[in-house]
Amino acid sequence: MNDNLVVPIKGVLNKLSIRDVDISGKRVFIRVDFNVPLDENLNITDDRRIRSALPTINYAIDEGSRIILASHLARPRGKVDPRYSLASVSRRLQRLIKKEVTFLPDCVGPKVEEAVGKMAEGDIVLLENLRFHSEEEKNDEAFSKSLADLADVYVNDAFGAAHRSNASIVGITKFLPSCAGFLLQKEIEYLQGVVNHPVRPFVAILGGARVSGKIDVIKNLEDKVDKVIVGGGMAYTFLKAMGYEVGDSLVENNMLDLANDIRNSVTSKGVKFYLPVDCVIAQSIEPAAETKLVTAQEIPHGWRAVDIGPASVKLFAEALESAKTILWNGPMGVFEVDAFSRGTFSVAHSVADAYALTIVGGGDTDLAVGRAGVSESISFISTGGGAALELLEGRELPGLKALTDK
Ligand code: 3PG
Repeated sequence: MNDNLVVPIKGVLNKLSIRDVDISGKRVFIRVDFNVPLDENLNITDDRRIRSALPTINYAIDEGSRIILASHLARPRGKVDPRYSLASVSRRLQRLIKKEVTFLPDCVGPKVEEAVGKMAEGDIVLLENLRFHSEEEKNDEAFSKSLADLADVYVNDAFGAAHRSNASIVGITKFLPSCAGFLLQKEIEYLQGVVNHPVRPFVAILGGARVSGKIDVIKNLEDKVDKVIVGGGMAYTFLKAMGYEVGDSLVENNMLDLANDIRNSVTSKGVKFYLPVDCVIAQSIEPAAETKLVTAQEIPHGWRAVDIGPASVKLFAEALESAKTILWNGPMGVFEVDAFSRGTFSVAHSVADAYALTIVGGGDTDLAVGRAGVSESISFISTGGGAALELLEGRELPGLKALTDK
């Protein structure tokens, strides 16, 4: 990692920032993304999304705002489901912020209005899961107004949900001055600012299961990158399209022509395109499954690729050596199974050790980086899954578009 190489593009955001708005003493509605992973006993297994919202919350505390926090958790589809209450998130936030957080058992209604009405400067409340009301995901106008009526200013710091046209993301902005929190700004600065104006050489590492999920990312990046490294399940659609035997590896047969077109288009622009040269194969993804190491062109029938092999790890590491900017999205294999995690973890170490500005975004890649123990050595790890992907596809996020222009 080298943070000094690039100052992330400040000012990439043409929307009001929380610093542009007077929030002192005001009632501030901060939409956060506290959609955290839970285990089977409903314990929070990763609180990074909560910790990532702290700079904005602390700033509002310092400004003497009355802070109303709101989030969704999971997909309860408009029904109250105690498994997805934000009560435990409220306790975790209170521990992290070392300040009392009052949890309100709903997000709209007279009781909420009364509690908010009694708030003093610096007080914090967390509303119950917005998605317990179906109106949230319908971007319902009356529901948006009920949320807006609680506050004087709206702050969006929920990058992970900024691709959703929901009431608390889009609808509410019709009724209040609306600005971006620090996390949202930082995400945009890296995933849009740095990615669109990288210090070169710029290398993109793309993985994950499906080519179909990454086509638009590759198309958006092909004019910006110097090298594209493809690993994970999606590599085998490219390899099959090139005529290689990929056994029972995950292949999207309807994408074969497109895979060739993409590879040709990328390489015709002088971009180097890397695929795995060897891989670990297994007959199933059971942890105890027998594994073999083979070249990526000769995977036998009945076997599927579950990880990249050591020659690929070396090839990819060499491709990263001169990079000044690296973007990584998508694991190299089924890293959740220990026996198939070595390739993904090795790439994580190569990214972490590179003398480059390093950005990790989307899906499970942050989990992979965490399990590899190198999170601290990455310049920026996005909190977004789908939202990060949409931004990397060059799409406009509804939650960002809805904020007040500068
Ligand atoms: C996420 O986890 O990607 C965000 O919180 C959005 O959640 P959703 O996909 O359920 O809308």
